[in-house]
Amino acid sequence: MILESAQAIVSGGASGLGLAVATEIADAGGQVTILDINEEAGNAAVAQVGSGASFVRTDVSDDASVSAAVDFAVEKMGGITLSVNCAGIIGAGLALGKNGPMPASKFEQVLKVNLLGTFLLARTCANAMRDNPETENGERGVIINTASVAAFEGQIGQSAYSASKGGIVGMTLPLAREFARDGVRVMTIAPGIFLTPMMEALPEHVQESLASQIPFPRRMGKPAEFARMVTSIYANPMLNGTTIRLDGAIRMQPK
Ligand SMILES: NC(=O)c1ccc[n+]([C@@H]2O[C@H](COP(=O)([O-])OP(=O)(O)OC[C@H]3O[C@@H](n4cnc5c(N)ncnc54)[C@H](O)[C@@H]3O)[C@@H](O)[C@H]2O)c1
Repeated sequence: MILESAQAIVSGGASGLGLAVATEIADAGGQVTILDINEEAGNAAVAQVGSGASFVRTDVSDDASVSAAVDFAVEKMGGITLSVNCAGIIGAGLALGKNGPMPASKFEQVLKVNLLGTFLLARTCANAMRDNPETENGERGVIINTASVAAFEGQIGQSAYSASKGGIVGMTLPLAREFARDGVRVMTIAPGIFLTPMMEALPEHVQESLASQIPFPRRMGKPAEFARMVTSIYANPMLNGTTIRLDGAIRMQPK
């Protein structure tokens, strides 16, 4: 698939990794529709990305909202050939905290945004991709999800987050197998530690401790490096049905 002619949806595109992906695609000449729950940041992102990018306020955990956003993107761009889901929340907390057990609603909320949201966007975009003409490789589209290394070695306080991200890893292969009949690939990226507003929100000593655990390069990842992974996946038809760690060899410790 050729980035210059991509018709891309980027969820969570108002910030961090998603914003870097939207920027990279637009800079290459592709069309971009940003989906995000944060309207103010979404409008600012469109101004920053330029190149005719558009924004539609979307809650990825809400089926009707996702459906309306995908319809908007199809109408605006003439189709969707790439869907990158970067919307996500951290929802850290102990299962048994100082104030008692984690409320069920908190656990549910993290699963709803991170896991259900990924599923809703993937299946809705795959449906839209069926209308695309085939490339010479027989491809109609690419879906890229964002998990986390916490899917594999979640830290204390990440039970909800790790469960949601592990679920994304788990559904990557069955979705790829199912959408193969339509020429749609499904891939997941599991980032290590990247310097985004999500990370900047953590206390400085936590940021430093996380960065020092990365063997090489001994620093947090740059959002542009995540975006480069997205564009590599898009361009390579053999990448399908798996999760790629993008993490400088970090293996997260219990805390
Ligand atoms: N930054 C990291 O180190 C890191 C590491 C591993 C995984 N990740 C994952 O990468 C993704 C992007 O993270 P980031 O660091 O760029 O975070 P970020 O907070 O900078 O961006 C996340 C975006 O998602 C949006 N969002 C949240 N809930 C939403 C919803 N219900 N519907 C639509 N949009 C919603 C937010 O408004 C925000 O713009 C997340 O899924 C995160 O879990 C990040």
